[in-house]
Amino acid sequence: MKDISVTIPIREYGYDELTAEDRLLVDKAREASRRAYAPYSHFSVGAAILLDNGAIITGSNQENAAFPSGLCAERTTAFYAHSAHPESRFRAVAIAANGTDGNEIADPVAPCGACRQVLLEYEKLAGDDVRVILVGRDKIYILPSVRSTLPLAFSEF
Ligand code: THU
Repeated sequence: MKDISVTIPIREYGYDELTAEDRLLVDKAREASRRAYAPYSHFSVGAAILLDNGAIITGSNQENAAFPSGLCAERTTAFYAHSAHPESRFRAVAIAANGTDGNEIADPVAPCGACRQVLLEYEKLAGDDVRVILVGRDKIYILPSVRSTLPLAFSEF
């Protein structure tokens, strides 16, 4: 028997400590969260993906009266990014959210498991780390890769 423990590397930043490139991605994710269609949960999430061609693709969660038919911001954005730019590769993703009170959530938003798995696929396609920027009102977490957000991920390739 042996114990194995997994450590997730997270760096916490204040907004002002970010590079200009990361600040822009955070701004874009925050803007996108305000375009969410979330009439059922009233939880509005925005994502911004930086591609290697310099484009920033944004998206938000889109809900539906048939609840499971809605989609998270991260997958809405990732699927659109890769369908519109199939030759480009992901470099970084930022995620921001507003809670049911309409204000930005204090702690950084954490993507759901399904979104981590989807983002991981695009990280593998990129052949390089895709930085993950989780935005909160008071602090911002940066993880070096999607892989680091999903220990023991399912992997076919
Ligand atoms: N949601 C996201 O957009 N991203 C996540 O990572 C978690 C949850 C959305 C789904 C749903 O529209 C709302 O937030 C409440 O769960």
